[in-house]
Amino acid sequence: MPNPDTTYAPSAEQAKAAHVDAKGYEEMYAASIADPDAFWAEQAKRIDWMKAPTKVSDVNFDLGSVNIKWFEDGTLNVAANCIDRHLAERGTQTAIIWEPDEATDEAQHITYQQLHAHVCKFANVLKEMGVGKGDRVVLYMPMIPQAAYAMLACARIGAIHSIVFAGFSADALGARIDACDAKVVITSDGAPRGGRVTNLKDNVNKALLNDFDTVKCLVVKRTGQQIAWRDGLDFWLHEMEENVSNDCPPEEMGAEDPLFILYTSGSTGQPKGVVHTTGGYLTYAAMTHEYTFDYHDGDIFWCTADVGWVTGHSYIVYGPLANGATTLMFEGVPTYPDAGRFWDVCQKHKVNQFYTAPTALRALMGQGNSFVEGYDLSDLKVLGTVGEPINPEAWNWYYNVVGKGKVPIVDTWWQTETGGHLMTPLPGATNLKPGSAQQPFFGIKPLVLEPTTAEVIEGNDVEGVLVIANSWPGQMRTVWGDHERFEKTYFSDYPGYYFTGDGCKRDADGDYWITGRVDDVINVSGHRMGTAEVESALVAHEKVAESAVVGYPHDIKGQGIYAYVTLMNGVEPSDELRKELETWVRTEIGPIAKPDLIQWAPGLPKTRSGKIMRRILRKIAEDDFGALGDTSTLAEPAVVDDLIENRMNRK
Ligand code: WTA
Repeated sequence: MPNPDTTYAPSAEQAKAAHVDAKGYEEMYAASIADPDAFWAEQAKRIDWMKAPTKVSDVNFDLGSVNIKWFEDGTLNVAANCIDRHLAERGTQTAIIWEPDEATDEAQHITYQQLHAHVCKFANVLKEMGVGKGDRVVLYMPMIPQAAYAMLACARIGAIHSIVFAGFSADALGARIDACDAKVVITSDGAPRGGRVTNLKDNVNKALLNDFDTVKCLVVKRTGQQIAWRDGLDFWLHEMEENVSNDCPPEEMGAEDPLFILYTSGSTGQPKGVVHTTGGYLTYAAMTHEYTFDYHDGDIFWCTADVGWVTGHSYIVYGPLANGATTLMFEGVPTYPDAGRFWDVCQKHKVNQFYTAPTALRALMGQGNSFVEGYDLSDLKVLGTVGEPINPEAWNWYYNVVGKGKVPIVDTWWQTETGGHLMTPLPGATNLKPGSAQQPFFGIKPLVLEPTTAEVIEGNDVEGVLVIANSWPGQMRTVWGDHERFEKTYFSDYPGYYFTGDGCKRDADGDYWITGRVDDVINVSGHRMGTAEVESALVAHEKVAESAVVGYPHDIKGQGIYAYVTLMNGVEPSDELRKELETWVRTEIGPIAKPDLIQWAPGLPKTRSGKIMRRILRKIAEDDFGALGDTSTLAEPAVVDDLIENRMNRK
C-alpha cells in the first residue's frame, strides 16, 4: 500500500481563504450524501433557468432499465449561462485570453461583450447554413477562440456539437462524422502547433469522401494557406458573418436535451459517442470548477488541454465561463519555442490556477529546472493535474520547482463519461499525498469491489475495482444511438453500480489511489486509446494477418503502445515494413495511436478455444516474463518462448 513519507497540509491562510477547509469539506460531503436531492437542488441554483426545475433526480442503474435524468422539467440555455447573464456585471471583463502558437505573436483578450457578439453572429451563420435544434455539428479545430465560439453558438441554437481532436486523421474524422450523422463540419484552413501546420481543411475533404455532396463545411481562416474548395458546400466564416445580425436569442432547451457528443475509446470496438446533456452537466462543470480549483472572482484560469478532449469542454469552456471567469486558451505546445513556454505564459498573463497533464510535466522535468526558474510564478494559487496517475517524482517537481513548495496540487480523477471531477483533493482542505486523488467530490459515493465476486470491500487498506454507487448531475446519459451499449459497458459487469474501468486502492486513512485501467484501454500521454482500435487499424493493412496490442510503462508517456504483429504468409519482416505500419496507423487513427514498439510475432499465445492471452502479452511487454503464471492451457506453449526471446522492451 502506498505510504508517502510526507504529506502537505494547507497553510492556515490557504484554509481560511478557500471555499471550504477540512471541516467544511467533511460537513458538506456528509450533507451531500445524506440528502442528495436537497443538496443538488441547492446547487442547481448556480444556473440561470428559464424555467426552474421542480424535479431533482430520476435515476435507475439496473441493467435493462438504465435511466439517468437530472432537473428534468427545468429549461435553460447553456450559452446564455456562459455569456448573457454575465453581461450586466462583467461585460468589459476578459472572458477568454488567447495565446497563439508563436510566442512573438500578440495575445488576444476577448471580453464577455465581445464574446456575446461573436457567438451570436456565429450562431446566425449556422442557422443560415440550415443548422437547427438537435442537429449535429462536428468541430475539427485548432485551439483558437473560434473553437469556443463554435461550441457556444451550437449551444445557443440547440445544435449538438461533437468535437474531434485535430490530431485525429481524416479517416478517424470521417468515421465520427458518419457516426453522428453531422450536417455541418466546422474547421480552419490550417492549424499551427509548435511551429508546424496541420492541414485541417484538406483532412476534412478526405474525411468527407462518402458524403462529399451533402455535408457542408464552415471554414475559419487561420493560416491563409491554399485549400481545396467545394463550391456551394464550403463557406468562409468571415464572409458569412458579413451578412448576419449579431442578435440571436438563446433557444430554450430542456435540461435533458443533449449538449454535446464526444467520442471516446473503450475496451471493445470503435469509439463510443458519450452524450452529455445541458442542465446537470453545466451545474456539475461549474461547481467542480469553483471548488476543485478554489476559483474566486477575478482569477485567471488556465487549463492546457485541447478542446477536443473532455477536459477542454468542462474546464476551458463550460465550467469557467459559467462562473464568469477569465479562461486562457493556448494554441501551442509546452516545448515550443522552448520548454519554458508554459511558465512564460503563466507569468505574462498572471495565471492563478494552472491545470495540466502529468505527461507534460514529465517531459518538462526532463529538460531541467532552468526553464522554470527565470519566470515569476508568484500569482499561482492552485496547480492541477489530470488524465493519468501522477508519479511522485513528477508530483514533487511540480510542487517544489513550479509551486516553490507553497501551492497546493489537485490531482483530479475523472473521465469523459463523468463530465467533471469525481475524486480530487481540495486546496485549503486536503492534506495532500503525492500521487493520490484522495477523496470523493461532493455527492459522489465511490466503492471498491472485489473484481471477480463483485463484493463490496469495506474498510481501509484495500484494493479492487472502482465503481460509483450513485449518480451525479454530470454523468453521461447514453451512448449516441446505442443505449444498449451504454448499459452493457457501464452497468453489466457490476450490477447496480457505474463501473469506471479503473482499479484503485483505499489506503489506511481512507484516501483513494487510482491504479489505472483494468480493461483493454491504455492511457498514452494522457490520451485514452482502445487497444482494439489500434489492432483493427493494423489488421486492415494487407500484409498483416493478426495483431495484439497492449500497454507498457513509458517514462514520459505513462504508457506506450506495444504491438505484436503476425504477418501474412510469405511476407518478410523488415525495418521498412515497421515504418510502413507506423505510418499506416497514423493515417488510420492519428499520430497519438502510432505504436511505440512493434514486435514480429510468428504466432500469438492463445487458449485452445482461440482466445488471445493478453495477460501474457502484457507481461512480456513489461519485460516481466518471470511471472507469466500458468501457460499450460496454451494451444502452443512454444510461441511464448519466441516472444520472450525477441521482446522489444529490454530494461
Ligand atoms: C485516467 C480524462 C489517475 C483513468 C479526464 C480514467 C486518471 C481515464 C486521472 C479517463 C487521475 C484520469 N489519476 N488516472 N487524476 N484522471 N485518469 O476519458 O484511467 O480521457 O479512467 O478523461 O484517465 O480518461 P478520459
